[in-house]
Amino acid sequence: MYISGMNRRNFLHQMGLAVPAVGLAAMTPEAFSLKTCPEISELQTAEGDDFWNGIKSSFTVSPNIINLNNGGVSPQPLQVQNAHIRFYQYSNEAPSYYMWRILDQGRESLRAQLAKIAGCDTEEIAINRNATEGLNSVIFGLNLAKGDEVILGKYDYPNMMNAWKQREKREGIILKWVELDLPSENPQAIIDAYIAQFSDRTKVIHLTHMINWNGQILPVKEIARKAKARGIEVIVDAAHSFGHIDFKIPDLECDYLATSLHKWLCAPFGSGLLYVRKEKISKVWALLSSPEPDGSDIRKFESLGTRSFASEMAIGTAIDFHEMIGAKRKADRLTDLRLYWMREAAGIKGLKLYTSMNPDYSCAIGVVGAEGRELSDLDQFLFNKKGIHAVAINIEKITGMRITPHVYTSFSDLDRLLEGLSDFVRS
Ligand SMILES: Cc1ncc(COP(=O)(O)O)c(C=O)c1O
Repeated sequence: MYISGMNRRNFLHQMGLAVPAVGLAAMTPEAFSLKTCPEISELQTAEGDDFWNGIKSSFTVSPNIINLNNGGVSPQPLQVQNAHIRFYQYSNEAPSYYMWRILDQGRESLRAQLAKIAGCDTEEIAINRNATEGLNSVIFGLNLAKGDEVILGKYDYPNMMNAWKQREKREGIILKWVELDLPSENPQAIIDAYIAQFSDRTKVIHLTHMINWNGQILPVKEIARKAKARGIEVIVDAAHSFGHIDFKIPDLECDYLATSLHKWLCAPFGSGLLYVRKEKISKVWALLSSPEPDGSDIRKFESLGTRSFASEMAIGTAIDFHEMIGAKRKADRLTDLRLYWMREAAGIKGLKLYTSMNPDYSCAIGVVGAEGRELSDLDQFLFNKKGIHAVAINIEKITGMRITPHVYTSFSDLDRLLEGLSDFVRS
């Protein structure tokens, strides 16, 4: 056990989580399959190591590498992998028959399941391959004229910034860039920074719900409200927040939102969703050819050509897994994991944190750097000495390793991280 002053059980008690010894310890992936999983109400009593060990046993992650870059892309639990493989094998029996006539019959039911966890109408959800595709559909699909202004932030994701820059270059729209001082514990300052860019020519505001670089959660609803009051359309990049923090899309009061499901929902690689508020669907041109590109049917965003129906349909199993854990329980656990290592790291001389410790402003994602040291050295040290895989972030004022645990991460994995950080600053 690395933690000295505050042992782990004390930590969990401090976090308000007792650790009852309920018998889920012996769960194998098979025993933990969704079919045999106890009801949530039974699991409520097992909110401790045993429950999370059961979750861990559903994953097939390497025992030799501690993967702390789940923010990039998540591994899938065995149930999801098996569903994917099963559907893939059906597909290979006669692809055009099984994919188009059999598997695709699950599409509308999958749409309804996604709408349920998203908290919106089924007719507002398109199933696609990732957040980039969904957001590009909206960015390129909105009618904008030369001189129209779009507000976006310097910490937004490069794929989306590039899409907007393409419209700037090609059509002469004007991009207004918001600079944020992150990490921030001052939501009003963030709201004010966006509002300061509003003008009579502003048509769209593009917001990243959770900044991927350091996990900062933006006050999207408050900004969206101000924008809507001025008739400005609101696009949200929820690549990192969906399936991670506990929210429903309508809570954000936005018009458009897209996410990848292969991040926090643990769905197959290359799966995503696009939400478009019902009355806005006909205002966005379909990105890829559609018989009614300006129609009001959300399915116009799904004419993607041939792709893997097996991976699409296995999204349903990922939703089951997510719901079995429960959105709130999952978010609470992810916060606990982050605070566990960050609180200890805050006490190690030479380390600098780039994410707020306040759970309102981040969930699983935290960034740590070593003052006066090369970031690449820290990256290599953690991997070579401790087998820790994380990602180095160097953008604007953030210079550190981004640490993103997931539901299968254990506290002892984080002890190894803390040992690595501590050894590095002393080396
Ligand atoms: C904030 C944000 N938006 C969008 C994306 C793009 O996701 P994808 O590559 O799955 O389209 C990412 C990827 O990490 C991201 O962090």
